[in-house]
Amino acid sequence: GVRKKQVSVLCVGLDNAGKSTILRHLKSGKADVQEIVPTLGVNSERLTLGSLCLTVFDMSGQNRYRDLWQHYYSSVQAVVFVMDSSDKLRLPVARHELESLLQHPGIYTRRVPLLVFANKSDKPESLSPISCTQMLGLSSLSDSPWHICASNGLTGDGLEAGFMWLHGEYK
Ligand code: GTP
Repeated sequence: GVRKKQVSVLCVGLDNAGKSTILRHLKSGKADVQEIVPTLGVNSERLTLGSLCLTVFDMSGQNRYRDLWQHYYSSVQAVVFVMDSSDKLRLPVARHELESLLQHPGIYTRRVPLLVFANKSDKPESLSPISCTQMLGLSSLSDSPWHICASNGLTGDGLEAGFMWLHGEYK
């Protein structure tokens, strides 16, 4: 068959945003997930989703792993940022982390596409994707193509739509 183009995706977000839950859903919900290989210790994980190779990092801890993320900035072809849209208190922290990621030359000089999951959309206190966009200051990042999706890591709602957008960036 036709060989799929491999796209390496860096998936990050604050602790408790729902990365592990989303990952678990992708693993169980899709037939074409090929492998799950733990790499580089406790805080990262890899899986293949169609033509996308996801490397998931946890951005918890006091920037302890920042040096590690930077190794990926220059080689990834997409970034997935998972945020807890119900966590208004830490939204500024999420914004700060996203900003510093996007200000890295490895990301902005290559206009790496950014997919944001406004996760936990099922919670009554969750902010809409539009509010999240405003709070994260996403519109000022217009140099890179970006897309935001409401998602529910528990049911998988919104995940497919998000990854379909990402796939579309590599057609
Ligand atoms: P760390 O492992 O700390 O880095 O966090 P994480 O980003 O991997 O988050 P994790 O997947 O562990 O989810 C944190 C908590 O949020 C868990 O209790 C999940 O069940 C819950 N959770 C994840 N996604 C959703 C969602 O869409 N809706 C709701 N209501 N809860 C969610």
